[in-house]
Amino acid sequence: MNRPIYLDYAATTPIDEAVLEKMLPFMSREGQFGNSGSSSHVYGWEAQEAVEEARSSVAELINADPSEIFWTSGATEADNLALKGIYSDSQTKKHLITSSLEHKAILDCCSYLERQGHQIDYVQPNKDGTVTTAEIADVIKEGLSSVVSVMHVNNELGNINPIEDIGSLCKEKGVLFHTDAAQSFGKLRIDVKEQCLDMISVSGHKIYGPKGVGFIFISKATQKQIMPQLHGGGQEMSIRPGTLATHQIVGLSEAAKLMSSSQLVELERLQTLKSLFLENVSNLPGFFQNSHSEAHFPGIFNFGFSGVDGETLLLAASRIAVSTGSACNSEKIEASHVLRGLGLTEDHAASSIRASFGRYTTAEDVKNASREICTVINRLIAE
Ligand SMILES: Cc1ncc(COP(=O)(O)O)c(C=O)c1O
Repeated sequence: MNRPIYLDYAATTPIDEAVLEKMLPFMSREGQFGNSGSSSHVYGWEAQEAVEEARSSVAELINADPSEIFWTSGATEADNLALKGIYSDSQTKKHLITSSLEHKAILDCCSYLERQGHQIDYVQPNKDGTVTTAEIADVIKEGLSSVVSVMHVNNELGNINPIEDIGSLCKEKGVLFHTDAAQSFGKLRIDVKEQCLDMISVSGHKIYGPKGVGFIFISKATQKQIMPQLHGGGQEMSIRPGTLATHQIVGLSEAAKLMSSSQLVELERLQTLKSLFLENVSNLPGFFQNSHSEAHFPGIFNFGFSGVDGETLLLAASRIAVSTGSACNSEKIEASHVLRGLGLTEDHAASSIRASFGRYTTAEDVKNASREICTVINRLIAE
């Protein structure tokens, strides 16, 4: 089967061949399959060495100490640990600040915490779709607010939030700052010290690493405030117990190294691909873009055509694999909470789609994808 052109890299990425090769020996009988917690023999030592090497390696990439990295099953778990970990001491009711554009992994944690009696403020983005420091400053309640959680790059829009400024504000006000970096780690510079980050969430499958693995960075000073959400064998300083998935961890670390070594070149390449795409589709009737024109990661682009339903466009444009960012429930397709959070009308939101470019997207792919969109839009409009 001739598969469509993959333009959904924000949803997930394929594992890089070099990453896969690094992972394989950690799964086989002849390789280092041991349990990193087995301290009495060489099988355990080998696995432990690989896990610690990976820990040091990802820590270095974000200017953290290895003892501040905790392996998780992905960014969802990291987000849960960051927020529930701080708030699950149910004796004291606390105040948390987040934005209405966060991933569901954050928003659903917040709903849960609200049901536990904690108070949450959802900051609205400005008209361009980014969260401003001023809005955060307005809702911080000194002495009561414990955490601000604002994502780095938005997964539907690609918009970049000013995490460095928000981090400085939080530091000044004595509030912890968490950022969901699932869409930015490896793609944009992250320096936990310079950007005053206390916690960040990362996922392996957004950077050409395996699914089912991620990590949370928790600064040393923040660690004592975190209540584990799992209880078990004491691994990861008991903050996140469970046998470590050595092959996944090695894969994540290798993927992160590859991202880092090509970060700037790749960013420029993605910018060129986005410009080429825009050049080809922006003259079509009804074109609009929801992504920020400047504070934007070029690998994720949200756009649409007025009067053309996004789902209809997706079905008709069968030669490309993109997404709408809409969530289906059993009765109806709901417009994405991110687009509604931007203040877009239902119709505008329903007309929007997300194309995301990545390591294996070529200029030829972009030209062919734009051609497909042009053909379909012209046909739908003529109907
Ligand atoms: C911003 C953001 N946060 C969290 C997640 C969840 O990550 P994971 O699939 O690793 O649980 C995603 C993935 O879609 C994401 O884009």
